Amino acid sequence: MKSAFIQTFGCQMNDHDSRRMVHLLEEAGYQVGGEMDQASLVLLNTCSVRENPENKVYSMVGRLARIKKERPEMIIAVGGCVAQQEGEKILKRHKAVDLVFGPDQIFHLPRMIQEVQAGKRGVYTGWQERDRKLQNFIPDEELEAGTVEGGQGMVAITKGCDNHCSFCIVPKTRGTLVSRELDNILAECRDLIDKGAVEILLLGQNVNSYQAQGHGFIDLLQAVADLPGLKRLRFTSPHPNDWNAELTDLMARHPVICKSLHLPFQAGSDRILELMRRDHNQAQYLAKVAYLREQVAGLQLSTDVIVGYPGETEAEFEETLEVLKQAKFFLIYAFKYSPRPGTKAAQLEDDIPTEVKEARLERVLKLQAGIQDQILDAHLGTRQEVLIDAAHPKERGVMQGRTDANLRVALSAPDLEIGDLVPVTITGRREHSLLGDIT
Ligand code: SF4
Ligand code: F3S
Repeated sequence: MKSAFIQTFGCQMNDHDSRRMVHLLEEAGYQVGGEMDQASLVLLNTCSVRENPENKVYSMVGRLARIKKERPEMIIAVGGCVAQQEGEKILKRHKAVDLVFGPDQIFHLPRMIQEVQAGKRGVYTGWQERDRKLQNFIPDEELEAGTVEGGQGMVAITKGCDNHCSFCIVPKTRGTLVSRELDNILAECRDLIDKGAVEILLLGQNVNSYQAQGHGFIDLLQAVADLPGLKRLRFTSPHPNDWNAELTDLMARHPVICKSLHLPFQAGSDRILELMRRDHNQAQYLAKVAYLREQVAGLQLSTDVIVGYPGETEAEFEETLEVLKQAKFFLIYAFKYSPRPGTKAAQLEDDIPTEVKEARLERVLKLQAGIQDQILDAHLGTRQEVLIDAAHPKERGVMQGRTDANLRVALSAPDLEIGDLVPVTITGRREHSLLGDIT
């Protein structure tokens, strides 16, 4: 039997695309999973948001090229954001690669593989009708192919982004913003609930700029949250500019909308935020956080932070620390700035020395570790509802799940099943997660 191995890098949108590709490959007769070195087809679903994951892709291509020398029939495909950005260059530089395709082409995967099998190496990086702002970008025949994993179904509601944050490659790799019709989204959500999804995660690079047939993100959120049978609704990522008091109020009052929010702020200094073209300043951001904290009980926040943006002074960097202290995120994704080809910021001199970036990152991580510690400690003895989503990979009889606010909990309860929603008392903690007992 033909076997395929998919390695996914990057964000949840890439996870979602990989899940779709698993289905398409299975339909085409592939068994997906197993060992990469033995697979007939290896697909790298790539991310170009930073230099590091991109380099990892190329080192993996190198490793695969060596395996291909022994097994020339192996097909190597590179998909995702690096593929969209680099296109033809990948085929030219890496002779072992057979197929390069962008995120808008995933539904043509079986046909593209057939072309490779017929002896044609290929690059497919076109956009699907990007002139239209509204598009049902999951084809009708794929609408019911969504899968439920760990009790959760992922549903893409937008793709691309019309903001042009100076450091960000996403508008180049995912294109301009396209929203999907409300009814089409609801049909997919209903199908996932019928298949056992307790939780739905709405996805997009910029979810709250959703706009389709007169419906904004708030209408969509309300409509999905009201679907019978759904217990939890999450979404990622929203942009702070499009986050407003109405959304906070809806989150506060709707029991199905989870009390966790990823709200990227990137930098604390207003000058850097302006250079980044973020269109919000520190005060506006913190005011939104303050209102969220006031209204939404039990809310946990997460964010993205970049240190060492070109020209960032020590004092400006310290404003980033100040935002961390005030907002008290549970989780942060913090990175050293690295220029991405084709972005506005790449035209600026990357003038902050690596050691300075590293020292700043270390300070951010140290401060954050203390904040996360406090949040975890504050959970001891509390009662939480936990959605069981996996068996512990190493410990027998231990199941794992997440609280409403997206904190990880491990509990010793071998009889539980994935998808169970159980009341738990928090009895202890580990470095980044909680321990609990069913109560
Ligand atoms: Fe990138 Fe997000 Fe900015 Fe869009 S809003 S350009 S996805 S950082
Ligand atoms: Fe990376 Fe593309 Fe996602 S650049 S973060 S995989 S949208």
